[in-house]
Amino acid sequence: MDHFLYKAGILHAEDVALTDIAARVGTPFYVYSTATLTRHFSLFTEALAPLPHLVCFAIKSLSNVAVLKTLGDLGAGMDVVSMGEYLRARAAGVPGERIVFSGVGKTPAEIRTALEGGIRQFNVESEPEMRAISEIALSLGTVAPIAIRVNPDVDAHTHAKIATGKSENKFGIPIAKAIAAYAEAASLPGLKVVGIDVHIGSQLTELAPFEAAFRKVAELTETLRAAGHQITRLDLGGGLGIPYTRSNEAPPLPVEYAAMIKRTLGHLGCEIEIEPGRLISGNSGLLVSEVIYVKNGEGRDFLILDAAMNDLVRPSMYDAHHDIIPVTEAAPGAPTQPFDVVGPVCETGDTFAKQREMPLLASGDLVAFRSAGAYGAVMASEYNSRPLVPEVLVRGDQFAVIRERPTYEEMIARDKLPQWL
Ligand code: LLP
Repeated sequence: MDHFLYKAGILHAEDVALTDIAARVGTPFYVYSTATLTRHFSLFTEALAPLPHLVCFAIKSLSNVAVLKTLGDLGAGMDVVSMGEYLRARAAGVPGERIVFSGVGKTPAEIRTALEGGIRQFNVESEPEMRAISEIALSLGTVAPIAIRVNPDVDAHTHAKIATGKSENKFGIPIAKAIAAYAEAASLPGLKVVGIDVHIGSQLTELAPFEAAFRKVAELTETLRAAGHQITRLDLGGGLGIPYTRSNEAPPLPVEYAAMIKRTLGHLGCEIEIEPGRLISGNSGLLVSEVIYVKNGEGRDFLILDAAMNDLVRPSMYDAHHDIIPVTEAAPGAPTQPFDVVGPVCETGDTFAKQREMPLLASGDLVAFRSAGAYGAVMASEYNSRPLVPEVLVRGDQFAVIRERPTYEEMIARDKLPQWL
């Protein structure tokens, strides 16, 4: 469920007409709904109660500080994977004790910054990283709380580029080697073992792979406890999928996911951490774009938009589907036709949809890409020297630009000429 609905024939974000935002900000732009962000966050916290838990929003899916503050003010924790994300979480006012640091290659500078600024735990992905964290913590006269990310060798049944839980993936320490890794962690004076971490992939549309992984985590918890380790937290990662089409997909609901967590891990008395990104941010955002031209090709018609693969790369990168709907509602029974929906960037990969049945649109019409809140703006680039797309946050009948579109001058001024030119 989201808060993007037609009112009097115009698509709104909550109580704001997208046409009003377009008139102020220009197109393309991303727009996010506070009500949807809040609702999706609450679905998890309500479903996990009464287990002790912390929902750590995966910042990588949508990292604007205004969004982070919206969630942080509700009590959300944050899952970060870089110095930049850590600093964004802090800039949003989230205290270190609600930030978990994931990621496969944390640099010494990142580890130091997090230890100095405060951190709930590092999710450690390799033995060398574990040793580095211990050394840096000792040099700062502190002890680093860690969980070890284990790789459970489970097939997440998702797109190969976003599956992370098979032994051939670069992530985590193989579960078979976990006992030795925990023994080493316990022997390192700069570390305090607090738990186990697992994350098997993104956009999962079934519970079974999660359940298989969590059962392995439950077993490992018992084994590690028997070996004398204090396992008080289980970080279960993110990955719950969202429906990208209104019709046929029905991924499990947060309440079903939480019930399965309770069933598989509830008896262990651990604090549960989860790291959802997409489920909170995905359907909280739209990308709004204008039709530049309608071009009649040979046997097919093209809708050429002012948004391109640099603004929303998911269709080009993962063959991802995003619903594309007109901002001015089509009349019931109005004719439709198949279009190839493309951007202006100079490669064929700059295609959002092929032969998509759409109302008859014309130059100047606005369209909205649904489910674009997650991995949309954060993956945007300035390819083809197209300035980064701006972001807008709506709350009720208010909206604010939360990231400006850079001017061409600002974009070009970042390039510097060497002294010999
Ligand atoms: N935790 C860890 C350690 C992760 O690596 C990820 C996502 C998450 C949590 C959040 O997963 P989510 O709940 O959002 O599925 N760019 C791709 C998705 C990459 C996901 C990477 N890791 C896409 O556009 O589909």
